[in-house]
Amino acid sequence: EKTIIKDKLNRPLRDLRISVIDRCNFRCQYCMPADQFGPDFEFLPRSALLTYEEIERVAKLFVQLGVEKIRLTGGEPLLRRDLPTLVEKLSNIDGLADLALTTNGVLLPKLAQSLKDAGLKRVNVSLDSLDDGLFGKINGRGVGTGPVLEGIEAAKQAGLGVKLNMVVKRGLNDSEIIPMAEFCKNNGLELRYIEYMDVGSTNGWKMDDVVTKKQIYHLLKDHFELEPVDPAYYGEVAKLYRYKDKDVNVGFITSVSESFCSSCTRARLSANGQIFTCLFNGNGHDIRNFMRNGATDEQLAERITAIWNGRNDRYSDERTAETNKNRKKIEMSYIGG
Ligand code: GTP
Ligand code: 5AD
Ligand code: SF4
Ligand code: SF4
Repeated sequence: EKTIIKDKLNRPLRDLRISVIDRCNFRCQYCMPADQFGPDFEFLPRSALLTYEEIERVAKLFVQLGVEKIRLTGGEPLLRRDLPTLVEKLSNIDGLADLALTTNGVLLPKLAQSLKDAGLKRVNVSLDSLDDGLFGKINGRGVGTGPVLEGIEAAKQAGLGVKLNMVVKRGLNDSEIIPMAEFCKNNGLELRYIEYMDVGSTNGWKMDDVVTKKQIYHLLKDHFELEPVDPAYYGEVAKLYRYKDKDVNVGFITSVSESFCSSCTRARLSANGQIFTCLFNGNGHDIRNFMRNGATDEQLAERITAIWNGRNDRYSDERTAETNKNRKKIEMSYIGG
């Protein structure tokens, strides 16, 4: 039995993004720049992380309040020990239609099969370049594309759905737009180009760094014939197209140039049990201590409902220099994108 709860802008709660860990084995320039996330950076201690039992409990309540889709994120979620155990717990929740994971792919050769067996449906793998040198520079760890490509292959072999995410930053990897399209088209992979966003306060984001959907689309049109595809469900983040000569999709995540806040149905749960109502709203609502202090399911559900009912975030719709400046920001690696 589901209760549908709405926020102040009448948006229902449909998706939950759960960050399971704030650490990552990469240091992508646009997410966790190596000079800011150095050896002394203090990540969350283990005791601060929600346990799998706690995550399961909260997830069940979210599903009762309307959530149909859960996505596991990080940092890098595959760094969390025994992740398939969590996946199995979540996949057994009644009323959950989709269970997915966003990853850099490096640990997929090791984990893809057990994740699939535990009930995971699909993975979104981040890959910003096919050039080893450039990719190593972007991921800040000198890792070539090999491990990620092997991860993608392992996920396919295991029977997981696979999509690719490419964050495009001007002057950094815009030269990879066409090669990535060719590669994904040839391999039957859906590629989504992501507009570089002003998340957090460490990546030095500038509007000039953003390559917009329109600009990418123009480039693609010189090489491919595309037709628009209808959204698969209300509030789908990516705008999708299909190659006319091959049944493969290619999409755009246009958070900067064409924001999608009016249909944003996503709540976020950080690894230490804070609920965030927007990727750009740094005011988290604690649920971990509330739980650890003995809150009942009913009290937890009431709190989640109150948080959602009070939500009026629409950051990407109102992004301006002014709002940008005064906001308390959260890092992508903490909130999971
Ligand atoms: P699908 O379920 O496969 O469509 O995944 P998704 O696109 O919702 O999730 P993914 O983790 O692959 O995210 C892709 C990009 O979309 C990342 O850069 C996210 O930060 C961004 N994104 C996802 N949800 C939101 C959102 O609510 N607001 C903004 N601004 N960006 C979002
Ligand atoms: N802007 C846009 N996307 C980002 N990601 C990480 N940082 C940013 C940013 N500043 C992407 C990752 C991953 C997804 C979860 O978010 O590449 O694909
Ligand atoms: Fe890690 Fe993903 Fe952030 Fe890169 S974008 S540093 S892989 S969490
Ligand atoms: Fe949702 Fe905030 Fe992203 Fe807008 S900016 S789509 S409200 S998470």
